[in-house]
Amino acid sequence: MSHKLTKRQAAPTRRPRLALAVTLCALACSAVLTGPTAHAQANPALLGDKTAFIDDLLRQMTLEEKIGQLRLISIGPEMPAKKLAEELAAGRVGGTFNSVTRPENRPLQDGAMRSRLKIPMFFAYDVIHGHRTTFPIGLGLASSWDMDVVARAMRVSAEEAAADSIDMTFAPMVDISRDPRWGRTSEGFGEDPYLVSRIAEVSVRALQGDTKPIAANRVMASVKHFALYGAVEGGRDYNVVNMDPQRMYNDYLPPYRAAIDAGAGAVMVALNSINGAPATSNTWLLQDLLRRDWGFKGLTVSDHGAITELVNHGVAQNDSEAARLSMKAGTDMSMADQVYIKQLPELVRSGKVSQQELDNAVRDILGAKYDLGLFKDPYVRIGRAADDPPDVYADSRLHRRDAREVAQQSMVLLENRNAALPLKKNARIALVGPLADSHIDMLGSWSAAGKDKQTITLRQGLQAALGGQGKLVYARGANITEDKHIVDYLNFLNWDDPEVVQDKRSPKAMIDEAVKAARHADVIVAAVGESRGMSHESSSRTSLSLPQSQLDLLKALKATGKPLVLVLMNGRPLDLNWARENASAILETWYTGTEGGNAIADILFGDVNPSGKLPITFPRSVGQIPSYYNHPRVGRPYTEGKPGNYTSQYFDEPNGPLYPFGYGLSYTEFKLSEVSLSQPSMSADGKVEASVTVKNVGRRAGATVVQLYLRDVAASVVRPVKELKDFRKVMLQPGEEKQVQFSIDRKALSFYNAKLEYVAEPGEFQVQIGLDSKEVKTASFNLQ
Ligand code: BGC
Repeated sequence: MSHKLTKRQAAPTRRPRLALAVTLCALACSAVLTGPTAHAQANPALLGDKTAFIDDLLRQMTLEEKIGQLRLISIGPEMPAKKLAEELAAGRVGGTFNSVTRPENRPLQDGAMRSRLKIPMFFAYDVIHGHRTTFPIGLGLASSWDMDVVARAMRVSAEEAAADSIDMTFAPMVDISRDPRWGRTSEGFGEDPYLVSRIAEVSVRALQGDTKPIAANRVMASVKHFALYGAVEGGRDYNVVNMDPQRMYNDYLPPYRAAIDAGAGAVMVALNSINGAPATSNTWLLQDLLRRDWGFKGLTVSDHGAITELVNHGVAQNDSEAARLSMKAGTDMSMADQVYIKQLPELVRSGKVSQQELDNAVRDILGAKYDLGLFKDPYVRIGRAADDPPDVYADSRLHRRDAREVAQQSMVLLENRNAALPLKKNARIALVGPLADSHIDMLGSWSAAGKDKQTITLRQGLQAALGGQGKLVYARGANITEDKHIVDYLNFLNWDDPEVVQDKRSPKAMIDEAVKAARHADVIVAAVGESRGMSHESSSRTSLSLPQSQLDLLKALKATGKPLVLVLMNGRPLDLNWARENASAILETWYTGTEGGNAIADILFGDVNPSGKLPITFPRSVGQIPSYYNHPRVGRPYTEGKPGNYTSQYFDEPNGPLYPFGYGLSYTEFKLSEVSLSQPSMSADGKVEASVTVKNVGRRAGATVVQLYLRDVAASVVRPVKELKDFRKVMLQPGEEKQVQFSIDRKALSFYNAKLEYVAEPGEFQVQIGLDSKEVKTASFNLQ
């Protein structure tokens, strides 16, 4: 719990911790040191030879100094400034996280520079979907299906974080999630191994840049949560994962691998256990798979307090055993707990942890610092005090244009009856809903250093877009929920400054006001969904419904007979059965970030044509979970339109998803031709080209995503009904058509078989091309 407090202190609405900086300066401030560290100065030649440099440094380190490097401290109440300064000067800290300004971090680095070997420390932070500028959450970025859009968000985030002296981010978060009950679904990029892998790779490159050492305006990526965290049982956070190896290798591991192949410098180890072995002490995971099979040479950091939690998992008797097991498995750094620093001296002296094991961990940490350029210049991202921004929150530091354009691409139009959208700018609009004017919720689940007041709410965005025309009447209409237990839970972290602020009026009074506004309007825009804390770490739900207070509001609005446009803000697929039947239009916006209100207005008024596609299936009910499009085949499949008896289905509600993976509408319409293949068969190392023509048959310019799926018709093991293998986002003017060609190679046909060999098996493959995963055109070829 204490660590959550720390996180919130680093959150946008908190004051910068200048007090800490001032105290530390008094203790430690010398003139700002720049340039190579003492060790690097003494061995300039070694700076070009990473291994020799680190070996040489390692030889000079005492046991205590080595163990000190393994310590990753969370800046917060549990580590007072005076104590931290002493620890730094004693060489007992490897890095910190949660301090996010140069004046805060400079004295900390000064402290490290006063230590005997002057080994620089690094500064980390959770830059998940933006830093000062907040971009859409992971699900939103993934909805763009546009790698340039993802790269743009990540590059700007890295630049802003680096400008605030951050060296490393705990991102990208690439956990595949097929269970929307899990609150952290919001943070990831959805359910599909291929799409998430592409995003993982692009994110790492954009965060780190392509130079070594990593440039001063980039940060090291720490891919997380290794591994399989998104598959926690029942969607309950921190729970166990039990999974067969094939599912693991084919579906859940690829995104981490993609991030590592793209050069991620660090890996964060997951909090969960995997088939009985917690990731933190999992030798198979961290050594056999990560280092031996995947060739990872970087740094591994534990998740928050995970080493000491081995005692709770019941695999360690006490902290000493927890430290020993984690070290043996290869968890290099311990985050926010004291276990390594307290237990390792004795463990190493007694030989229970070998010198070699300790040195391996230290080498990884020094290696990361080397790759960050910190030995050349410990202040590479801190810069000179004279250049510090006078106001870290200055609006001029934000990237509003990037935020708006990225957000425009991140929304998914789910319904649009009778062309209810786009809205006219001379319309009288009743804007209602608890999320219509909530700054804090625009930020979404991991807002890093984003400031709530700097966000544009939907109310502000609509007002600005209307200019002098039309009319906007706002009524809140409902609280997020009237359930006191839930409100208390969401406000648990911050009693003094609650995130979920209840309107004290009765639900009826609020609804009456909204209905009155609606009666005088041409159209109702209702911003409903979840407060941001409802889709976060430790925010698992048993229900995917809109809270009752909001459903009551929507039903009353519907009764007015006015067109009802739903603008959803949420971090997981919701149960939209009522909305689907009753709303005129539904726009899934997730959480759109700093410029969200403007970007949503751009879509609602048609200044931008929506082009997002779902990166995750929307089930009809909680009972359908897990519901994912690429499920394995079964002996008695259910076929739509045929009686379900004795097939694999539920008899008490319609089968199949409410909205399938890859789905999303546009204000125009697209038509897809049949698939044509370059040849009927493919040689072992050959290729088949699959092409379709996509035509804009509507009256507006717009973009869509052409999606390529494959089905292995008969294989040595049961394979998915289909798997995404490629996609292309295509922009088309009205009447325009384009040919889209996909090149299918052996890799696209390969999978891990029962022996976990990566193979492509000869036989028939069905090509499926569509604008979502459900409605597809097909053709077949044979692999020889
Ligand atoms: C989360 C991580 C995060 C870390 C540091 C943990 O509770 O699981 O994703 O990076 O805290 O804030």
